[in-house]
Amino acid sequence: MITPWEVEGVVDYRRLLEEFGISPFQDLLSAIPNPHRLMTRGVIFGHRDYGRIIEAMKYCKDFAVMSGFMPSGAIHFGHKMTMDEIIWHQKIGAKAFVAIADMEAHLVRGLSYEKTKEIGMNYVKSIIALGLEKNALIYFQSKNVNVKNLAYELSAEVNLNEMRAIYGFTGETQIAKAFVSLIQSADILQPQLSDFNGPKPVVVPVGVDQDPHLRLTRDLASRINLFSLEKINKGYRIRSKIEKNLDRVAKLGFEFRRFAGHIDLFGSHEEIEKALRDLEIELGGYAFISPSSIYHKFTTGLTGGKMSSSKPESYISLLDEPEVAVKKLRNALTGGRNTAEEQRKLGGEPEKCVVFELYIYHLVESDEELKRIEEDCRSGKMLCGACKKLASELIVEFLKEHKERRDEAEGKLGDFNLIC
Ligand code: TRP
Ligand code: SF4
Repeated sequence: MITPWEVEGVVDYRRLLEEFGISPFQDLLSAIPNPHRLMTRGVIFGHRDYGRIIEAMKYCKDFAVMSGFMPSGAIHFGHKMTMDEIIWHQKIGAKAFVAIADMEAHLVRGLSYEKTKEIGMNYVKSIIALGLEKNALIYFQSKNVNVKNLAYELSAEVNLNEMRAIYGFTGETQIAKAFVSLIQSADILQPQLSDFNGPKPVVVPVGVDQDPHLRLTRDLASRINLFSLEKINKGYRIRSKIEKNLDRVAKLGFEFRRFAGHIDLFGSHEEIEKALRDLEIELGGYAFISPSSIYHKFTTGLTGGKMSSSKPESYISLLDEPEVAVKKLRNALTGGRNTAEEQRKLGGEPEKCVVFELYIYHLVESDEELKRIEEDCRSGKMLCGACKKLASELIVEFLKEHKERRDEAEGKLGDFNLIC
């Protein structure tokens, strides 16, 4: 039985979790104070180390949220989902970072920087229109010196064999692909630079297709650090790339045992971590905390299959005129039956319906209303025509409001920390 809280394709997503060692998000749900609807409805299905973020929320510690958008085409509801996640985390206290991946769009998709600027600014306006607040950093990768410098440093920590294992690169792969991957790792680690108050938990909301970047970044983060920590009974085993750093570790005031090549410290894990981080910063290191991530399900294209920015009929853009959106919705694939009569008898199949997916992901905030729609669909009481009419009304309302908010956002751009 599939409910709005366990939507389509569950089996495949489970397999994905197992294959890549991503943890199920479900297990953390009860620990999150006021979870977002994407969380309670199972749209966000997996995570890495999100416990760190919950901890930071709970104890009001410094933490950040960051994600990026490639300015290569229309902004659609798939992008809105990531934007909603960034905004939600900002509202509960995260410092927000938004990357406009113009270097990636330029190098991988071949767009001119003039074009990526134009498209990128549309993303910026939309995320502000959706509710991003002023204390965020929004930047175009190509204009961010910190990110470019950090990517250069990170390049010393990975070799081509590892890139091949993670991304499936071959001998023919352009180095540009490796380059943009390192830029993305730098995007993810930037919130922990001293310009932004140093190491902190960072959560990256993304589609699961971005997981390779997260795996690479997590490796790079620990490799570039001066110290590595391995949990042992009642403490940590500490190693360092530079052996003499361990002499400093011995003087941190913890009970210790020194060996050739490592030192064991005994005491509270949290206190040792903090002391090591402070020491590493003092010694000029980064002391990065491994970034966390959350994974949402893909948005289905309106005509079935994957949503693609090269197929306008497969998505509704946040910039579509209402009439255009309504027309696309009219042609959308539903979970309805061949004839009205059949549907009255058998009911619809919301789990196969992209209109219902829109309700779950974006259009219906109230769980009760969502449940009612689902029941009316399943029982055959409501047919797809009427249902699409309701969805059209909700979409049109949203698009009109979004357009107004975007116009307002234009005037507010100057208040934002914008590197462009
Ligand atoms: N590569 C991402 C995409 O294609 C965009 C992106 C750039 C990103 N930098 C990022 C995503 C940092 C997450 C974190 O959509
Ligand atoms: Fe989808 Fe609505 Fe038709 Fe059900 S009634 S299949 S939810 S469009």
